Amino acid sequence: MMTDAPATLFVIVGGAGDLTGRKLLPAIARIVEDKNWHETFHVLAVGRAVKDDETYREWARKSLMLAGLSAETVRAWCDTSIYYASNAEESGGWAAVAGKVAAIEAKHGLPGNRAIYLAVPPRAFPTVIEAVGQVGLNKSPGFTRLVIEKPFGKSLESAGRLNEVVHRWFEESQVYRIDHYLGKETVQNLLVFRFANALFESAWNRSLVRSVEITVGEHLGLETRAGYYDQAGAFRDMIQNHVSQVLTLVAMEPPVKLDADSIRDEKVKVLRSILPIAVEDVVYGQYAGGVIEDETVPGYLEEPGVAEGSTTETSVSLRLHIDNWRWQGVPFYLRTGKRFPERLTQIVVRFREPPVALFEVAGSEVNSDAIVITLQPNEGFELHFDVKAPAEDMRLETVPLDFRYAEEFRALPDAYETLLEDIVIGDQTLFVRSDEVEAAWGLYQPILDNPPMPEPYAAGTWGPPSSQKLPHATGDAWWEDSGD
Ligand SMILES: NC(=O)c1ccc[n+]([C@@H]2O[C@H](COP(=O)([O-])OP(=O)(O)OC[C@H]3O[C@@H](n4cnc5c(N)ncnc54)[C@H](OP(=O)(O)O)[C@@H]3O)[C@@H](O)[C@H]2O)c1
Repeated sequence: MMTDAPATLFVIVGGAGDLTGRKLLPAIARIVEDKNWHETFHVLAVGRAVKDDETYREWARKSLMLAGLSAETVRAWCDTSIYYASNAEESGGWAAVAGKVAAIEAKHGLPGNRAIYLAVPPRAFPTVIEAVGQVGLNKSPGFTRLVIEKPFGKSLESAGRLNEVVHRWFEESQVYRIDHYLGKETVQNLLVFRFANALFESAWNRSLVRSVEITVGEHLGLETRAGYYDQAGAFRDMIQNHVSQVLTLVAMEPPVKLDADSIRDEKVKVLRSILPIAVEDVVYGQYAGGVIEDETVPGYLEEPGVAEGSTTETSVSLRLHIDNWRWQGVPFYLRTGKRFPERLTQIVVRFREPPVALFEVAGSEVNSDAIVITLQPNEGFELHFDVKAPAEDMRLETVPLDFRYAEEFRALPDAYETLLEDIVIGDQTLFVRSDEVEAAWGLYQPILDNPPMPEPYAAGTWGPPSSQKLPHATGDAWWEDSGD
């Protein structure tokens, strides 16, 4: 089916990098195929090597085939719509890139709509943005959109400085800060789940909710990312962005409209309503060796590239409170880590027990009801509630009502496909605004300035013992420990 999308030139800076090869090009190729954008969607990869279109296409073809795209799609689109420009000094630098942009637009009769995607390491963001501005690529006859990958800064101060550079050349309405979690169908569905279902939304507050838990766990270890990760750690890598984005969607008020700024206004309000986080409410962990899925794996300090005696945290658990009418007194537990028992992104909303303990009289226990929303893998929703076990004298059992996407719908689109399409149609809803980024850094900066020492945990567990105990202070337990 043909959709109306403005003809666009996608300029990917860092066009021969890992992200481009594994995620961006395959996602673009799938959109082009699904939406029949062959005539309207073109790519210019920019890099510091000096090579020509054909050499780059060779690399692009391999990346697309590796990502499982059909040879037909690869040939049809790659050969006519992918170009390469070098920004190396010896090939004319950014002036040459601007020249190639103009040449491609003239060749395909494009109206000058451009998305400039920064798929380079974060330290290169400011120099690339300055260079783009100085050669005038920030302005065009059509629209110009700047897409920035995460991480956006590594502190409140550096995020502020980066925003200054961005705003020197671009209006905020042109800026698309990617947090690919927001492109996941299940994350977006949080808005529908809450605001299209009065049943759930009417229970979504301090009167009925006892606690909220958000877990983003990976079973993988460091892999090849030591250079970045040993500097960043789990807090900067996960809590400040992905986990906080999920938190804001779980906790926000209904927006006045469904447009980008109305939604983002409400998300920022959540971040600004969070009380300063107490040091004793934060637990850092670092994985030691262990066994995952019958495989013995090394500890973090034995991973190649990790500094000797590194104190970088590979897990974080924390408790926070949102100081507003809806959530006053409700603890929110956030948790992330590498080498957890499984790859899992999950939200658990637990409800209060009934005010009268009617069934305890009969020697049975009432569990609090819960909604478990799994964002990945096996995406779906479960509502856990108590029933009477049949033929037994008032013994209660907790059972789930279960909905799984895979059983109801076709395969979910990749997050990057959703986000890239939104960039082209100009919908900023799923992108992070500058004030949102700074509000998140501002909230967490005191912890980052004064971090706790990481405690060891065995690979294949959910973090150190102190993390397991964190919810006990308020009479709670992590979902997997609760026996529900
Ligand atoms: N890889 C992922 O799965 C992933 C996931 C989430 C976010 N990200 C973010 O996406 C961005 C790109 O990640 P990546 O993994 O693709 O990185 P990468 O492979 O390390 O780098 C991408 C490209 O950037 C160029 N580059 C490297 N250093 C540069 C510098 N100092 N100045 C200018 N260009 C430089 C290189 O191309 P040339 O040598 O040809 O110039 C390189 O191929 C990063 O910001 C990363 O944090 C990546």
